[in-house]
Amino acid sequence: MRLDPADPAFSRDPYPYYAGIRDQGPAARVELANGTHAWLVTAYEHVRAVLADPRFSNVPPQRAGRPKPDSPAERARACLARHMLNTDAPDHTRLRRLTATAFAPPRVNALRPRIARLADGLVAELAGRLATGETADLVDGFAFPLPILVISEVLGIPEADRDDLREWTYRVGSPADALPQGAVDEAWVRLHAYLTSLIAEKRRAPGEDVFSTLVHGPSEDGLDDGELLAMAFLLLFAGYETTMNLLASASLRLLTHPGELAAARQNPHTHWAAVVEESLRYDSPLEGATWRCATESVNLGAGVVVPAGDPVLVVLAAANRDPARFPAPDEFRPTRYLPAADGRRAASHVAFGHGPHFCVGSRLARLEATISLPLLFGALPGLRLAVDPAEVPYRPGLLVRGPRRLPVTTQAS
Ligand code: HEM
Repeated sequence: MRLDPADPAFSRDPYPYYAGIRDQGPAARVELANGTHAWLVTAYEHVRAVLADPRFSNVPPQRAGRPKPDSPAERARACLARHMLNTDAPDHTRLRRLTATAFAPPRVNALRPRIARLADGLVAELAGRLATGETADLVDGFAFPLPILVISEVLGIPEADRDDLREWTYRVGSPADALPQGAVDEAWVRLHAYLTSLIAEKRRAPGEDVFSTLVHGPSEDGLDDGELLAMAFLLLFAGYETTMNLLASASLRLLTHPGELAAARQNPHTHWAAVVEESLRYDSPLEGATWRCATESVNLGAGVVVPAGDPVLVVLAAANRDPARFPAPDEFRPTRYLPAADGRRAASHVAFGHGPHFCVGSRLARLEATISLPLLFGALPGLRLAVDPAEVPYRPGLLVRGPRRLPVTTQAS
């Protein structure tokens, strides 16, 4: 089965395609639009098995992609890519261990008031624009800036520098052909230079931020400067587009499921957390985990053998819609994540991954969403979509999934 992630119909609703693949067994070999082949793993049980299996490596193969000419932008990109999501044990174990203190629950929970302040500011700005009768884009005015502002708090980035950071992050995260090449290259170089100076500054004058904890972590087997640089980039990048997609998708679902929005407003203490969990399951912000590569031939059962060296895409979005795990998987039903009378809840989703690379920022992402969504819908009771939901454009690609724009307006409530 050929897979074309650039096809807008696929980007909007890839689920029927994945359901067909899931029926074929533990993994299916598909042809990608560029003519290469990859194995897709789509069933919940197999997704978890592959993510926990050390025979599948996260280290990008040397020959991946076309060789790129040497340039300052290419050197900056290569340097920032040396992060833990691109490593295996034992390097991965060492790098990951160092994030444990920085992302410990009390440190993340302490961000609560600052997240609320940042979300309040964005919502007030949005409300001002909507009050004039204008249509606004919820992605541009809320879902995109909030994660960048929050991660700036985590990294201790001064407020005056945040607009620059937002611009560079946007550029380096844009699809290859969306912006002029020069704009993307310049952003790589400037981001690299900025993060280098940030580390020097945190060494000189540590702050209260989470990143200062990393910079001043245990010195024996601590991070060298190159590793710190890549870590700063990973934290910036892993948290921004994913959380943006969570906020945008959850908003879209609430705007198109008024009964669920009303239930969340009536039972804020229990329902908002359930809305966030169900959004993570139903609209997995990271559609596929990062690419894995089989380091040896792996028998996945049912006659499926992935040969050594073959690329594997573990499709989290498909696992989260697996009917063997979630009853009525294609229905958006936050109540499945409310504790039942007997204390049981729906199965955990795999939106934050599984195994050694399980998301470091899951607590932070949940906190951002459970704080900011009630603020948004509380301040704007008449918020509604300004377009037919079927016309909401989605980002192309296999790795991240979410609305590209979400035009909204308000009406008197
Ligand atoms: C809704 C938001 C988010 C989602 C859905 C998400 C999802 C994920 C997933 C699925 C992985 C594993 C990828 C793989 O195995 O290939 C991952 C890893 C990671 N995430 Fe998140 N993430 C989110 C937010 C964040 C935030 C806010 C941060 C930053 C603080 C963050 C930092 C990381 C890091 C550092 C890793 C790499 C962990 C490792 O390699 O051991 N994520 N994330």
